[in-house]
Amino acid sequence: MSNHFDFDAWCRVRLAQVEQALDSWVNTDPAPEFDHQAPAQLLQAMRYAVLDGGKRLRPLLVLAAHEAVCGATGGVHAPAALRAACAVELIHAYSLVHDDMPCMDNDVLRRGKPTVHVQFGEASALLAGDALQALAFELLTPRDGSVPEAMQARLCALLARAAGSAGMAGGQAIDLASVGLPLNEAQLRAMHERKTGALLQASVMMGTQCGLADAQAWQALQTYGSALGLAFQVVDDILDVTADSATLGKTVGKDANDNKPTYVSLMGLSASIDYAQNLLVQALDALQSSGLQQTQALAALARMVVNRKS
Ligand code: IPE
Ligand code: IPE
Ligand code: MG
Ligand code: MG
Ligand code: MG
Repeated sequence: MSNHFDFDAWCRVRLAQVEQALDSWVNTDPAPEFDHQAPAQLLQAMRYAVLDGGKRLRPLLVLAAHEAVCGATGGVHAPAALRAACAVELIHAYSLVHDDMPCMDNDVLRRGKPTVHVQFGEASALLAGDALQALAFELLTPRDGSVPEAMQARLCALLARAAGSAGMAGGQAIDLASVGLPLNEAQLRAMHERKTGALLQASVMMGTQCGLADAQAWQALQTYGSALGLAFQVVDDILDVTADSATLGKTVGKDANDNKPTYVSLMGLSASIDYAQNLLVQALDALQSSGLQQTQALAALARMVVNRKS
């Protein structure tokens, strides 16, 4: 049997690649041709926010989707996929820095470390988030010819839409406006799809965009990304109740404490767990219907999202 898929080995190689790329891009000279230097304190806060921690789920989704449409060697667009993987992680890291600030969730622990505003002050946290967002788009638009310009534009469009008012930022606004309100299931789903689902789905579609996908595969991967994105936030809500802070690397019990509407507060713990499993089945079914052969990594990532403990 040679078709066993070694997911741990698959992750190890890609995580090392992503970590190394992030380390070199969130650095003094991410694009030497522009000859700019970030002020030392700002750069320190940016590196603190991005490096040494995080599951890197979004980069892994980009790379897995890219491989599903291109094969494991990635072909000519492997550099584009790596840039897309890191760009999504920068947007995610920025969203966490701002999410933790006193004006939002007021959290002191993230990825097992003091949050950025606790470590560097609020103004630095705000600016580090801003700068990470800008850097994400800089990464997607290299001038060295490694990514075709039409592809650069499409990747920027996917990421911008997922990060903006129709996606993450919009979802965060709904989240803050919903404190203490009894949302119904449709309203809660709409909030989760935006604040978390959009960027996860965009990760899948950016990886797809770096290859050649026919309409059937494109549609199936969109469905996969949407189910996985929602499942991710349902599980995030569950872990806030069931995990401990040491394992999670962030303060648990915050949602109930802050009166946030979550899947657990809406439908209870056991129905939320069932719902996450149901979404996993939807994500795996979508892969089945994609017509693609190399979907093992995407399938394993969906299982990881739903069965994770942190
Ligand atoms: C946490 O995301 C924030 C949400 C979007 C719910 P992750 O659980 O992916 O955080 P890291 O990147 O692993 O720290
Ligand atoms: C945050 O959701 C989603 C983001 C856009 C950052 P949460 O507020 O539930 O994320 P955690 O639990 O703090 O990681
Ligand atoms: Mg929040
Ligand atoms: Mg939060
Ligand atoms: Mg949460």
